[in-house]
Amino acid sequence: MKVIVTEDQIEGGAKAFEIFEKGIKDGAKVLGLATGSTPETLYQNWVKSDLNCSGLTSINLDEYVGLKPDNPQSYHYFMQKHLFDKKPFKKTYIPDGMAKDIPAFCKKYDQIIKDNPIDIQLLGIGRNGHIAFNEPGTSFEIGTHEVKLTENTIKANSRFFDNIDEVPKSAICMGPANIMASKKIVLMAFGEKKAHAVKEMIEGPITEDVPASILQKHADVTVIVDKAAAKELD
Ligand code: F6R
Repeated sequence: MKVIVTEDQIEGGAKAFEIFEKGIKDGAKVLGLATGSTPETLYQNWVKSDLNCSGLTSINLDEYVGLKPDNPQSYHYFMQKHLFDKKPFKKTYIPDGMAKDIPAFCKKYDQIIKDNPIDIQLLGIGRNGHIAFNEPGTSFEIGTHEVKLTENTIKANSRFFDNIDEVPKSAICMGPANIMASKKIVLMAFGEKKAHAVKEMIEGPITEDVPASILQKHADVTVIVDKAAAKELD
């Protein structure tokens, strides 16, 4: 893994944007995208840029079950607001949190990813080492699936909701197998609260107890961390 340590999230977002911009200029056409606080500075750079996205396809990592796309807490809404409204893409895919038959939807999403192999996949990391919503204990072998969120993740995400009971209890998300099939991966992590997960991901054993540790087996991963998130690295 290549590790880039930046001063803060602002510099980290600019660095990540440089990587995406170069990748797109070099021919990347399908991008795997993420939501959350971490990529916000990347998207800020993106919308300020003159990068033309009309030839690009995006495939998002995850969506909450039970939230309609126009719900301000949904990941559909997040992506529209932070990127797609200002930078229209040719085609955008985000899991359908309102799907009636979730297992059938997950199969369809796996097919979408097979038909549109991801050139660059963006990831954040949870404090417990999750990537997308693949919580500790998730098999490394699985593709898109419905996942029951852990209490820790529900608590961490409750900051975006009026109260914790409104946080959905499950999500549809790409599995580790989908993520590992991407040609290139860029993972960002900022702040001291991520420091332990970052250490485990990079220097710990490869174990399903730390979902992000699977990335040690990928040939092209760039990790962008600020000084605080890099604190525990050797
Ligand atoms: C979001 C996602 C999650 C987040 C992770 C970190 O699409 O897949 O894995 O990347 O929970 O969240 P933040 O960035 O809010 O700290």
